[in-house]
Amino acid sequence: MSSSTAFLSFEGVVAGYGGGDVLKGVNFTVQEGGVTCIVGPNGSGKSTLLKTVSGLLHPRLGQIIFKGTQLVGKSPREILKLGVVQVPQQHSLFREMTVEENVSLGAFLVRDRGEVSRRLKSVREMFPIVATRAKDKAGSLSGGQQRLVEFARCLMLEPELVVLDEPSMGLDPKTLRAMFDTVKLMNEMGRTVLLVEQNARQALKLSHHGVVLENGQVRLTGTGKDVLDNPEIGALYLGGTIQAQSQAPEDAAIKEAE
Ligand SMILES: Nc1ncnc2c1ncn2[C@@H]1O[C@H](COP(=O)(O)OP(=O)(O)OP(=O)(O)O)[C@@H](O)[C@H]1O
Ligand SMILES: [Mg+2]
Repeated sequence: MSSSTAFLSFEGVVAGYGGGDVLKGVNFTVQEGGVTCIVGPNGSGKSTLLKTVSGLLHPRLGQIIFKGTQLVGKSPREILKLGVVQVPQQHSLFREMTVEENVSLGAFLVRDRGEVSRRLKSVREMFPIVATRAKDKAGSLSGGQQRLVEFARCLMLEPELVVLDEPSMGLDPKTLRAMFDTVKLMNEMGRTVLLVEQNARQALKLSHHGVVLENGQVRLTGTGKDVLDNPEIGALYLGGTIQAQSQAPEDAAIKEAE
C-alpha cells in the first residue's frame, strides 16, 4: 500500500430506488493500493453502494470523491474514463459473442489498436482461458470461467480501481480459491480493489480493510483481520459462528452462507 490518504471516500451517501432510502448516510474511505472488502447481510445495500460508485445509481445526498474528483452526478461512461471499472454481481458477458470479442470490448474507450493488442496480450498471459477459448461463445463457458473472462475484460481498461460485486457467486470451492488468488494478483499488479463478498471469511483474509454494512449504514470498519475477529460480526453475519469457523475447513463459509 502506497499511501494513507483516501483514494475513494464516501461522505454521507444517501441513495435508493424511489420507494425510500436503501443507503442511509454511508461514510468510509478506501485506501490506494489495497483491497477493501464490504460484507453485510443480504439486502443491506452492498450492491446499491457499488452502483453509486459506477454511476448506475445517483445518490440523493452525499459525496463520493475519487482522487479529488466528485463522482456524484457523473455518467457511467465518465466514471469509466476516470479509471473505475465494475464487474457486476450477475454475469455480464455477451453470451452470443466470442470470449475474445467480449474481452476486446473492455477496451472500447481506447482508440489506439496497437495499444488494444498490447493489453490483450497482457490479459491473455494472466488469464490463459482468454487464449484457449478465444473463439468460443462466452455463453458456452462455465460460471467460473465466465467470471475470469469478466475480470480480463475489466482489466483491458487498465483501471485504477476495480469494483467487484460478489465475484465468488456460484463458484465451487476450488474455483473460488482460484478466483480469490486472481483478485490478490490483480491487487499486487497495482489495482486498488473494492469488493463485496458473501464468503466473508476468505475475502476478509485477503483484504487489507474491511467494512461491515448493515441496513444501509456502516456498522464497523477496520483491518480485514479486525473485522474477521470481531465477535459481533459473527453474530450479525455468520450466525455467531465466525470464531468456530476460523478453525474450520475453507468451504465451511460457503455452507454457512447458504
Ligand atoms: N433495482 C431496484 N429497484 C428497487 N429496489 C431495489 C433495487 N435493487 C435493490 N433494491 C432494494 O434495495 C435493498 C438493498 O439491495 P442490494 O441489492 O443493494 O442488497 P445487497 O446487500 O447487495 O444484497 P445481496 O447480499 O442479496 O446481494 C433491497 O431491499 C432491495 O430490495
Ligand atoms: Mg448484492
